[in-house]
Amino acid sequence: MNGKPVAVITGASRGIGRAVATALAGEGFDIAAIARSVNSEGMEILGPEVEKRGVQFFPIGLDISCTTCHAEVVSNILERYGRIDFLVNNAGVAPLQRKDLLEMTEENYDRIMNINLRGPVFFAQKVAREMLWLKGKLQDYKPCIIFITSVSAGLSSPDRTEYCISKAGLSMASTVFADRFVKEGIRVFEIRPGIIMTDMTIRQAEKYTKLIDDGFVPQRRWGMPEDVGKAVASIARGDWDYSAGMVFEVSGGLNIHGF
Ligand SMILES: NC(=O)c1ccc[n+]([C@@H]2O[C@H](COP(=O)([O-])OP(=O)(O)OC[C@H]3O[C@@H](n4cnc5c(N)ncnc54)[C@H](OP(=O)(O)O)[C@@H]3O)[C@@H](O)[C@H]2O)c1
Repeated sequence: MNGKPVAVITGASRGIGRAVATALAGEGFDIAAIARSVNSEGMEILGPEVEKRGVQFFPIGLDISCTTCHAEVVSNILERYGRIDFLVNNAGVAPLQRKDLLEMTEENYDRIMNINLRGPVFFAQKVAREMLWLKGKLQDYKPCIIFITSVSAGLSSPDRTEYCISKAGLSMASTVFADRFVKEGIRVFEIRPGIIMTDMTIRQAEKYTKLIDDGFVPQRRWGMPEDVGKAVASIARGDWDYSAGMVFEVSGGLNIHGF
């Protein structure tokens, strides 16, 4: 059995997930990095970034919406590392095209729900089950699950209704997981990023930069993936050991609704 704690990060090949994986490697976690393919440029960049921090890298190909694939992936991680201490449910997508609520299609709605909500919920369920089992086997074991939602869990955008609904659902999933598992020693947190500079936002960069410059984001700057990585690392270090079920806003103050 591996001695180091192990972190599983979904959507680790780019953006926020890559920054989270790098930050957790810096905290001494061996990394299981999930994305749809292990053969992407992003995974090739991440591997050495993780390993140069003195921990192991295990790339895994999984479409998170494939719930029938989850069991095999979880069992492969346990076979390789013998434990899972930390799960960051980060994989997520935006609508392929922004369309007004009246134009939203069932197909696009289902795509977003399957990737952003149904997949992460059932993946976390499987990992939580293993964490409960591992609690009886490992000493000093402090399992933790994080759901990366979005400020869109609470802010409406009628041109990406399905995204907002998926993130609001995932936010409640985080609360329910926290409630169900806190007494059994698994702590669950939600992190709500604001406008973070990644492939997801790059197509709208001009619009977002104007919003930020106009003060929509009180701290008047883009969020960077590392801002989320630092927040996750602080939870992983144990800085929040006497907390559970909290929502961390990493959004430059977008959560403040002032006049
Ligand atoms: N950027 C923002 O402003 C922002 C704000 C709030 C919340 N978020 C949330 O933060 C998370 C990460 O977003 P990001 O901005 O870092 O996006 P990104 O740069 O587009 O990265 C998305 C990641 O998810 C993976 N992924 C996509 N579909 C997947 C699937 N079906 N199964 C498994 N992995 C999949 C991608 O990997 P492959 O393509 O290699 O599979 C990639 O690693 C998302 O949940 C997003 O909703 C982002």
